[in-house]
Amino acid sequence: MARNAHEIIEQNTGILMTLIVVAISFATLVEIPPQMHQQENNTPVVGMKPWSALALEGRDVYIREGCHVCHTQMVRPLRAETERYGAYSRGGESVWDHPFLWGSKRTGPDLARVGQKYSDDWHHDHLINPRSVVPESVMPSYPWLAKNTLNGEETQKKMRLFKDQFGLPYTEQDIEAAPDMVQGRTELEAVIAYLQQLGIAMKDKR
Ligand code: HEC
Repeated sequence: MARNAHEIIEQNTGILMTLIVVAISFATLVEIPPQMHQQENNTPVVGMKPWSALALEGRDVYIREGCHVCHTQMVRPLRAETERYGAYSRGGESVWDHPFLWGSKRTGPDLARVGQKYSDDWHHDHLINPRSVVPESVMPSYPWLAKNTLNGEETQKKMRLFKDQFGLPYTEQDIEAAPDMVQGRTELEAVIAYLQQLGIAMKDKR
C-alpha cells in the first residue's frame, strides 16, 4: 500500500522528533524574541519610583526569608485576578526587579498590588503574628524581624549597583541620604517599607 507523507513521518521516530523540535523552535521564536523588543516591556511604567533605601533593604529581607516561595508578584490578565488584586502585571513594572520575584506558587495571596492596601501597623502585627489579625492564617510568624536592626553599611553599594547595572534613576542625594535612612531601623520596618511600595504606580490603573 502506498504510504502518504503523514504516515511516513508518523512511522519514523527520527523524522518525527526532528520536525517536533523545528515546530517548537519556530513557535518559541515567534513568541519570545518580539516580546524582548517591545517597548512596553522594556521601559518602567509611568510613575514608578525606585525603591527607597529602606525598601531596598526590605526587599533583601523578603528574599532571605523566602516570602516569594508562598507569594507571587504577578497578577495574571484573568478576570478573577484583576477583580481581586487590580490591574494585571505589566512587563514594565519588573524592569528594575533583579532578581525578579514573580514567584510560581500561591500559598498566600499575590502581593504585586499590596502597597498601601493596609496600614504599617497592620503589617507590623501581621508579620509578628499573622493570627493576631487574620485568625485562620497559616502564614509563619517572623518575630525576629522586629529585633534585628540594620547597619546600613552596604546600602549605598547596593543602590550604586542597581543604578549602574539596572538603570534605577537614583540621584547622588538619594545615595548620600541612604545610611541615615537605614541605620538602626529594624528589618521589620524595612520589609514594611518594601511591601508598601509594591505596585503603587499601577494602583488606579486598569
Ligand atoms: C508558608 C507560606 C507563607 C510564607 C512563607 C509567607 N506568607 Fe504571607 N501569607 C500567607 C498566607 C496563607 C496568607 C493569607 C492569610 C493572611 O493574611 O495571613 C498570607 C498573607 C500575607 C499578606 C497579606 C496579603 C493580603 O493582600 O491580604 C502579606 C502582606 C504577607 N503575607 C507578607 C508576607 C511576607 C513579607 C513574608 C515573608 C517575611 C510572607 N508573607 C511569608 C502565606 C505565607
